[in-house]
Amino acid sequence: MGTKILQFWSYFFLILFLSSHGCFSQNEEEEGIKRSDFPKHFLFGTATSSYQIEGAYNEDGKGVSNWDVFSHIPGKIKNNDTGDVANNHYHRFLEDIESIHSMGMNSYRFSISWTRILPEGRFGKVNRRGITFYNKIIDSLLLKGIEPFVTIHHFDLPFELDQRYGSWMSSQMQEDFVYFAKICFEEFGDRVKHWITINEINQIAKAAYLNGVSPPGHCSPPFGKCLAGNSDIEPLIVVHNMLLAHAKAVNLYRIYFQEKQGGSIGIAAGGNMYEPLTDSEFDKHAAERALIFDFSWVYDPLVYGDYPKEMREILGNQLPSFSDIEKNTIKESLDYIGINHYATLYTKDCLHSTCSFEGSYHPIQGFLETTWYRDDISIRETSEAAFVVVPRGLEEIINYAKERYPNKPIFITENGCSPPLGNGNKVEDILNDTKRIYYHKNYLASLAKALRNGGDVRGYFVWSLMDNFEWANGYTTRYGLLYVDRHTLKRRPKLSAQWFASFLGGNLQQLDKSSSFLNTNASSSLMDA
Ligand code: BGC
Repeated sequence: MGTKILQFWSYFFLILFLSSHGCFSQNEEEEGIKRSDFPKHFLFGTATSSYQIEGAYNEDGKGVSNWDVFSHIPGKIKNNDTGDVANNHYHRFLEDIESIHSMGMNSYRFSISWTRILPEGRFGKVNRRGITFYNKIIDSLLLKGIEPFVTIHHFDLPFELDQRYGSWMSSQMQEDFVYFAKICFEEFGDRVKHWITINEINQIAKAAYLNGVSPPGHCSPPFGKCLAGNSDIEPLIVVHNMLLAHAKAVNLYRIYFQEKQGGSIGIAAGGNMYEPLTDSEFDKHAAERALIFDFSWVYDPLVYGDYPKEMREILGNQLPSFSDIEKNTIKESLDYIGINHYATLYTKDCLHSTCSFEGSYHPIQGFLETTWYRDDISIRETSEAAFVVVPRGLEEIINYAKERYPNKPIFITENGCSPPLGNGNKVEDILNDTKRIYYHKNYLASLAKALRNGGDVRGYFVWSLMDNFEWANGYTTRYGLLYVDRHTLKRRPKLSAQWFASFLGGNLQQLDKSSSFLNTNASSSLMDA
């Protein structure tokens, strides 16, 4: 069984690193796309997360998070970048909201920093200054007619919970997450009508507990050399705890808040698409399995109350089990399905065939030469590996979700890319991001097609509003519609921001002004207003 598990996880090398997202290849025909191809009340927004943009890591009573600690360990993040300052959104949020508005967006997805609200994890007091910060964001959005779409937990958590009991490795984390979620419902639920409990439980399990590139940095050979961890088992345990934490928070919301507050609640899972690398039956089955082991790993339990049978068959008792009570709790524990879709990946069978990891895997239509390999220590990527454009994949994952989980509304909670920057990483090249426009136009066309074919998709969020702290990549990859100068933190709209403004009927002139018209002092005084 050990070998099988290893082989199973093998294709998560592929999944994880290719899905460190991007876009590449121009093989698909560009399609015309207009706002009127989508329903009037369709949500169009951008997405961010607290640690990636806020900065102000130790201001106004904020506690220490797992990412505060991890990013300060030398060698963990490219260039030893940290999120200490990030984009200083904490002080510049008004300017950022102005830009969202100028682009004509009617929604904004952001996350709440757990340590701003509960600096010491479960113990200690609620930090009112943290509550005030998010109240101001929510109120400012609503004033502009922008619907807040709030993620309760997006990767950053109190370090104290890691230290005390290993955070998601322990079932105690379920109760502590519910405690935090309850505060969010109480404080913000009168105005927040869309909740995401946890972001990408499937991806974070792999990044943090399979490959060890996110805190707490756990892994075991051959997946990496970490100080602690078990790459075969820990990802399964943490997802189990996150599923139950999600379901318990949803139960609480449904019993005490939903009727009164009138919101909806779901989760956002990594939802890349998979295709077989070759025509062999093994590879075809591998592609089907990859989708089940990645996407349905999250959504089967939340809709049907248990893991997919294919996972149980291969993983046996290594896969944790739900008690009957737990099955009842998790079954139907969501109002909608959230999909973070970036790319479509080739899948090669590793259960019945040998996998060398040497040049076997290629993103579809991307590379025809070796792009990925692992040696005993790490997996490396070539410089252009962050750009895979396969627009039909979005329609396909929507169809998969529609068929496997009928009657569930869908939100595309993230879609975006970090195109190669060309020679020299010049600012003009970054601003002139025609590849990103190409990517979004085509993915939107694919989404429109899914809608025409009966997909009940209610919204689409671009990752990301602005260039930001891209986890282990630091500031070296740029997913933003707005460019952020790393020295001055001045924002400037890229061509893609202008494209969205004209697609959505926003205000192009205002966009140019808004992305730099408020300086830090002005923002702070507005904040205190
Ligand atoms: C995550 C974001 C991340 C983005 C680009 C998503 O999986 O939710 O936090 O920045 O991918 O890598």
